[in-house]
Amino acid sequence: MADKIRVMIVDDIAETREQLRKLLSFDPDIEVVVMAGSGEEALRSVTQVFPDVVLMDINLPGMDGIATTSKIVEALPTVQVIMLSVQGETDYMRRAMMAGARDYLTKPPSADELLDAIHRVYTMRQKMGTGPLMPIPGMPQVAGTVSRAANAKIVTIYSPKGGTGCTTLAVNLAIALQMVLGADAKVCLVDANLQFGDIAIFMKLQAARTIADLAPHVQDMDFDLLRTILVSHSSGVQVLTAPATPEDAEVFRDSEVEESGANTRLKAILEFVRQEFDYIIVDTAHQVDDVILATLDVSDLFIVVTRPVIPEIRGARQFIDLLRKLSYTMDKVSLVINGVDTKRMGIQPEAIERAMMPAMVHIPYDERIALRAANYGEPLILKNTRTPIGQAIINFATEIQKYFAQTVEETVPVSEAQKRPGIGRLL
Ligand SMILES: Nc1ncnc2c1ncn2[C@@H]1O[C@H](COP(=O)(O)OP(=O)(O)O)[C@@H](O)[C@H]1O
Ligand SMILES: [Mg+2]
Repeated sequence: MADKIRVMIVDDIAETREQLRKLLSFDPDIEVVVMAGSGEEALRSVTQVFPDVVLMDINLPGMDGIATTSKIVEALPTVQVIMLSVQGETDYMRRAMMAGARDYLTKPPSADELLDAIHRVYTMRQKMGTGPLMPIPGMPQVAGTVSRAANAKIVTIYSPKGGTGCTTLAVNLAIALQMVLGADAKVCLVDANLQFGDIAIFMKLQAARTIADLAPHVQDMDFDLLRTILVSHSSGVQVLTAPATPEDAEVFRDSEVEESGANTRLKAILEFVRQEFDYIIVDTAHQVDDVILATLDVSDLFIVVTRPVIPEIRGARQFIDLLRKLSYTMDKVSLVINGVDTKRMGIQPEAIERAMMPAMVHIPYDERIALRAANYGEPLILKNTRTPIGQAIINFATEIQKYFAQTVEETVPVSEAQKRPGIGRLL
């Protein structure tokens, strides 16, 4: 006989737990292995009993169902959580899904709904393979397994001209996301300005190894190797730094270029790293080349930065026009206007938006704060959350979250991006 589906029930009301258990007892393929009355209790049991499926009440006293779910999924990515909630809490649904829940049912569920959902998520789990990613005490680590339930959202920050603030924004956005999402979130910052990347300077990081050390291993990458190359910042953000010298970036030059024009090594690295994170923020250099095309192919959101200065606006606009010619999915492209100083500058951000597209956020000009941050290697968001520039960056992180909350159900498969004509033929 096939193994039974092992189910855990989490609800603070004993009667509800009992009703659910009764409903499940009608299905010979399901076995309730444990019941918990709180999130804390659920967390203690989950690593002991390794259930296949967890039925989670959203409203729990203490740690709520959403926080408990994200902790469970973090520790055991293959556990499938089904969230249960009373009617009228539909706005919780998105949060539950973002936390890693696989399905969502209204209380009280009918027997059919409940059994269907359990069988469905269990089938999904079997397709995912097994092997927990996060080190669980007493459990050997499995190298090379596909780890998290959901792939990271990749957000690339780009401008055709240098000096617009891409690195400043990428660094501070990554930290702000970590702040907004909490310590459990996994945020990675990748410096894809391969020749002249300066994220390590902006964050005062000593990197013994860099993305150049990963490049020769695209065929045989594993998570153990990746972990030795990522550098941890005090904010919790993990950083994949740029090659130490422009010559070291040569290893990406030998790489093959796809028909679409994308650098295969960088693309493979980003595709691999995304398995381990919730968000990846990518900083880039300022041209259109195979490296930028690789980021365009894998990005879920591609942000073009400009300051309110005519040559930069023109460059940004030409780039966006190029994307349109290449039939790039424009839903994935957004604009950020940096260095906005309405008192000093003649060009209003609204005029730039009319010429291009609405901006996700306007970041104010603050030379003192930005320069100090760059010179001391202390990202400005760490000490300036209450200043206008800090507030704008927090707002940026929140807008990114909202963007993905809205596109959860309609994510465009990456392969869509690859259907565009090769840039080599266009330029
Ligand atoms: N909003 C801002 N206000 C004032 N100065 C800024 C702002 N954003 C960035 N800067 C400064 O502009 C310079 C270039 O920024 P950087 O992030 O290195 O740009 P890029 O990566 O696009 O070349 C840095 O000295 C930085 O401190
Ligand atoms: Mg830069």
